[in-house]
Amino acid sequence: MTETSESEIALEARQTEAARLFSPSAARNRDAIGDMLAKLLPQGARVLEIGSGTGEHAVAVCQRRPDIDWQPSDPDPASRASQDAWAADAAPNMRPSIDLDLTRPGWLDGLDMFDAIVCVNVIHIAPWSVAEALANASRDRVVAGGLVYLYGPYLEGEATAPSNLDFDRSLRSRNPAWGVRARSDVEALFAAAGLAAPDRHVMPANNLSLVFHSRSPV
Ligand SMILES: C[S@@+](CC[C@H](N)C(=O)[O-])C[C@H]1O[C@@H](n2cnc3c(N)ncnc32)[C@H](O)[C@@H]1O
Repeated sequence: MTETSESEIALEARQTEAARLFSPSAARNRDAIGDMLAKLLPQGARVLEIGSGTGEHAVAVCQRRPDIDWQPSDPDPASRASQDAWAADAAPNMRPSIDLDLTRPGWLDGLDMFDAIVCVNVIHIAPWSVAEALANASRDRVVAGGLVYLYGPYLEGEATAPSNLDFDRSLRSRNPAWGVRARSDVEALFAAAGLAAPDRHVMPANNLSLVFHSRSPV
């Protein structure tokens, strides 16, 4: 019998060079993500990234936008070490990585306010409670008028790409708590947390960028 656990942490395929890790999937999408975030983020933005992985997306954005202040995070120690190594080598505007596990009660305690939260390829490979925690953080830790950027695959009814249906089946066979999320479910979750309906951008390999804006005070 295959044992699965809600607390299991999934990591993408990686290559290593000392502490720096390289992800083949990040190599394919980091420029598209970096270009988009470099345009979206306000001047001097304070950014919190959830599940930063190797740290390569953080580097891609920080190199394009030296004015921003990027806080990477990950529950996985090797990932945090990689993020710190990338920061030392390539992105001085990346802060030391912090240990954030969104399934842990109280994970938000002590965190400041941010102009943006960024989360790439995490909510399908973690339990739904991680998406819920992310929505709560978006409500409680993003300034009015700030943004939340989610990148990844989504189910979109009959329009869902076959490769995303296959990916969904494969994720659920590894852990029943995982799975490609329905865009409508994610949008409903963030709407309930007070964010406006997102802008939807088609990205490479049947992925989407969803850009939510927190509501400005009226
Ligand atoms: C597929 S990897 C994506 C990494 C990186 N964002 C990227 O796209 O290359 C999933 C990441 O989510 C992180 N993760 C998994 N469960 C998590 C949780 N409960 N809270 C925060 N991060 C989590 C993993 O440690 C890992 O870095």
